[in-house]
Amino acid sequence: MNELERVIEDIEGIDAPERVVVLTGAGVSAESGVPTFRGAGGLWKDFRPEELATPEAFARDPLLVWQWYEWRRDLIRAAQPNDAHAALAWFEREVEGACGYSLVTQNVDGLHRRAGSRRLLEIHGNMFRARCIREGTRREFPDSPAELPPRCTCGSLLRPDVVWFGEPIDLIADAMSEASAADVMLVIGTSGTVYPAAGLVSLVRGGMTIEINPDETPLSGAFSSSIRSSATAATRAVLEALARRLASCR
Ligand code: OAD
Repeated sequence: MNELERVIEDIEGIDAPERVVVLTGAGVSAESGVPTFRGAGGLWKDFRPEELATPEAFARDPLLVWQWYEWRRDLIRAAQPNDAHAALAWFEREVEGACGYSLVTQNVDGLHRRAGSRRLLEIHGNMFRARCIREGTRREFPDSPAELPPRCTCGSLLRPDVVWFGEPIDLIADAMSEASAADVMLVIGTSGTVYPAAGLVSLVRGGMTIEINPDETPLSGAFSSSIRSSATAATRAVLEALARRLASCR
């Protein structure tokens, strides 16, 4: 029996969960062709975060920062949500009314939303939204702007509506309260190296915690089970097992 089969068997033996929380990282989008941040081909290999993903970098060179985001936005516009994104959106619809559910993502690529997920906390923001640096107003920002860096109607610069290194995470309190109420937490495709998101799994009290990641991470030892598979190879099977568990208790 492999680890995925063992996890499915374990799920069949638990009480019906009242609250399922999923945390995703860049690995859930890897099979859509979106580069992860770390590891082979990771974005941070070619770019230094402090040159691009900090408020200081933006103040110093907003054009360079926007050029980097436009390169990523182009790549993601051309990408499609994969079966792991689709399975999460399916699960949300399937368990509506049967248990609490929320999806916490560190990803700013918007692929969960494009796949249909709505009970979604995008804790690091979304790069298809922009924010005026003076007024703080947010807007949808799906298309390539006519000129870079783009400006607000008030004349000030717009910035990508994402959380940069050193900035506070507005949604972290919501994510923490979801994690601390979880009976089951599924963590897919994160290296578990960036806090506070990486600390969410430690808030789960006595529930089942499952990692899906082809590689071991610094958090692996903290999970009840680690499935060494890609997101598309394991996510749907785990969610289907959870949905069956709920259905048998209705
Ligand atoms: P990382 O790039 O740090 O980690 C990606 C993880 O995905 C690694 O552990 C890989 O082993 C795993 N992985 C790769 N391919 C996979 C696949 N097909 N299926 C499942 N897992 C796979 O990305 P994050 O952990 O998301 O922050 O990084 C966290 C934060 O660091 C990001 O949100 C970003 C970055 O700096 C901000 O932008 C604020």
